[in-house]
Amino acid sequence: MTTRDDVLSAFRFRHACKQFDPQRKIPDADFDAILECGRLSPSSFGLEPWKFVVIQNPALRQKLLATVWGAQGTLPTASHYLALLYRKDMRFDSAHVRHMMTDVQKLNDDVQQAKRARVGKFQQTDHHVLDSGRQLEDWAAKQTYIALGNLMTAAALLGIDSCPIEGFEMAGTEAILQEAGVLDTGEFGLAVMLAFGYRINPQPAKTRQPLADVVSWVR
Ligand SMILES: Cc1cc2nc3c(=O)[nH]c(=O)nc-3n(C[C@H](O)[C@H](O)[C@H](O)COP(=O)(O)O)c2cc1C
Repeated sequence: MTTRDDVLSAFRFRHACKQFDPQRKIPDADFDAILECGRLSPSSFGLEPWKFVVIQNPALRQKLLATVWGAQGTLPTASHYLALLYRKDMRFDSAHVRHMMTDVQKLNDDVQQAKRARVGKFQQTDHHVLDSGRQLEDWAAKQTYIALGNLMTAAALLGIDSCPIEGFEMAGTEAILQEAGVLDTGEFGLAVMLAFGYRINPQPAKTRQPLADVVSWVR
């Protein structure tokens, strides 16, 4: 059984690791388990608006250095480097939503119709994500950050370091990924990236606001 201390130690161990030991590779079984934790992540209505791309090709990583300013130390040294993509067309009546409800969730026609109507109301009048294409994309992209958190925590529990990466110029980075055949910008957008490996330098001290400044209770 995982103890409270085990959980807290993993969260204290995790930090934004800026440089990895280039000699050390994450065992396949460990990385597969980390990816599985991404796959098992929750999403709104269970519609999984994401795709995870593991970028191991050294030439592509080298190209990304030109636009990904936030990963200058991690792109070249990461054991594994992940791009988290979000799906652009997440409308309630899109092909992906239909696929999820039919093939993955295996809902019968009646249940599917009711669920599609619920997602439609949610998107149109509850959260207004259909007001613009950007809002719909942001709704999908923010869900990839749930997987991002789970991937980092899973890695930390296994003693593996990571660094989330949002430090990139969007258009240029997407263009590099598209040219490499990794990203079809008609279907997906780049949300965030995540580097994994083993630290080479000591972990810096954590800075966080006190609990009382970030939590309030209503009793
Ligand atoms: C969404 C997101 C994007 C980030 N982007 C970068 C990045 O591009 N490069 C980097 O070195 N660190 C990046 N960080 C790391 C943060 O700077 C770091 O998590 C924060 O300063 C807290 O430090 P800690 O994670 O070591 O506790 C990012 C963190 C998050 C959550």
